[in-house]
Formats: sequence, C-alpha cells, structure tokens
Amino acid sequence: MNIPDMIIAIDGYSSTGKSSFARLIADELGFLYLDSGALYRGVTLWAQENGVISPEGHIDIPALEKGLEGLDIHFEGHGSDASTFIGGRCVEKEIRTLAVSGMVSPIAAVPQVREYVDRRLRVLGGRKRVVLDGRDIGTTVFPDAELKIFMTADLDVRAERRMKEMRSKGEDVRYEDVLRNLQERDYIDSHREASPLSCAEDAIVLDNSRMTLEDQMVWFRGIIARMADGSDGKN
Ligand code: DC
Repeated sequence: MNIPDMIIAIDGYSSTGKSSFARLIADELGFLYLDSGALYRGVTLWAQENGVISPEGHIDIPALEKGLEGLDIHFEGHGSDASTFIGGRCVEKEIRTLAVSGMVSPIAAVPQVREYVDRRLRVLGGRKRVVLDGRDIGTTVFPDAELKIFMTADLDVRAERRMKEMRSKGEDVRYEDVLRNLQERDYIDSHREASPLSCAEDAIVLDNSRMTLEDQMVWFRGIIARMADGSDGKN
C-alpha cells in the first residue's frame, strides 16, 4: 500500500489509550512517534525536582519560565520503544507516577509551558511521517494535519484501565484516587484558557469503550486504506 506522507494527530481524553494506539500506528507505518503528554510530564517532573512547585502546589512562574530556556526534554528510540529523557537521564517511569499526574494539568495550563512544548513538537514533527498524541495537536499544534483522530471512552472504563496499568508498573493506587485524578484532569484540560481540549471539526471520533487495541487497529487500517486510495479516510 502506498502510504502518503502525513501528520497523524491523535487527541482525546486522558487514559483513552492514545499513546498505545499511536505507538502501534507508528510501528506499523514506520512513522516517528511523538508523545506530547510526555513533554508536559517531563516539565512537571523537572519543576517538582527543582523547587518550582511548592509542596502546597503553588507554581513559581518566573522560575518556571527561566528553567524552560535551557530545558532539554527529548525522546530516544522509535515507535513502541520511544522513551522520554531530560538531558542524559531516562525519566520514562518517573513521569508516569500519580505524583506527576497530580500536577501535570496545572503545569500544562501555563501558556509559557504550552509555547515551549508546541515549539519542540513543531521542530520534531515538521518533517511529516509522524504520529503525535495529545489534547490539542489537531486543533493548535498541527491544525493542517492530514489525519485527525479524537479518542474518547466511558470514564469508568478509563479509570479501570489506568489503575491496571499503574498497578502493573508496581504503583499501589486506589480506584477512587485514579478516578478523581481523571475527573480533575478532564475538567482542567477542557476548561483552561490556552488551547483547551476539544475535538477538531475535521477529526474522526473513536469511542473505544468496548474495543480492544486490535479492534482499533482494524478500524485504523480501514481509514488508511481509504486514504491510500485518495479519499480523506472518512467515508
Ligand atoms: O496524555 P497524558 O495523560 O500523558 O498527558 C498529561 C497531561 O498533559 C494531560 O493531563 C494534559 C496535558 N496535555 C496537554 O495539555 N496537551 C497535550 N497536547 C498533551 C497533554
């Protein structure tokens, strides 16, 4: 199949499985995968470790802005093997803890942080043949992306999946805490002033509440086959 050069933007709610889906797509198409949430999580971890966030959760904006100037967050490896680094240190595990999840939405609502992440994504993703996942890729970062997918799933399904994922990584979390964190992030992500989470008008909606990852790949292959035939993938 002739896969056209393109940017694939995958947006949607927290814990809808965007990154697992995006990584598989990148593997299958041989595209670069960029996890925009990992950049926001990396900034959050850095801020927590460097006293930019107080124990009460107050963010020191001038210190944050200054730190962003020299902050090197990047990815190493491809597709399903991509990991997040701050300088020479792999932080893939640390950025997925509940401690980071608890502060990432307020950090991601800071306009200077969004500018920093958008700039990095545009540099890294500007060469097409790339899959990105996040909240505002199709609306703000790459509004001209050739394929936009917006992912959603029932809240209880998302909380259950997230809890299992965290427990499988050895984090001892309670269902109620994971559920509350998801509700809070949904609210902050959709109500913040700077590029809130919203579905682009030209995005294809994927509700995967009752779909396995393999079901989603079958759905995706149908879209790609139609695009390879010259359509926009929607019909
Ligand atoms: O996808 P994730 O759960 O790893 O993202 C972590 C947080 O980062 C999420 O709560 C909102 C924020 N985010 C964002 O505001 N914009 C993006 N493009 C990606 C993530």
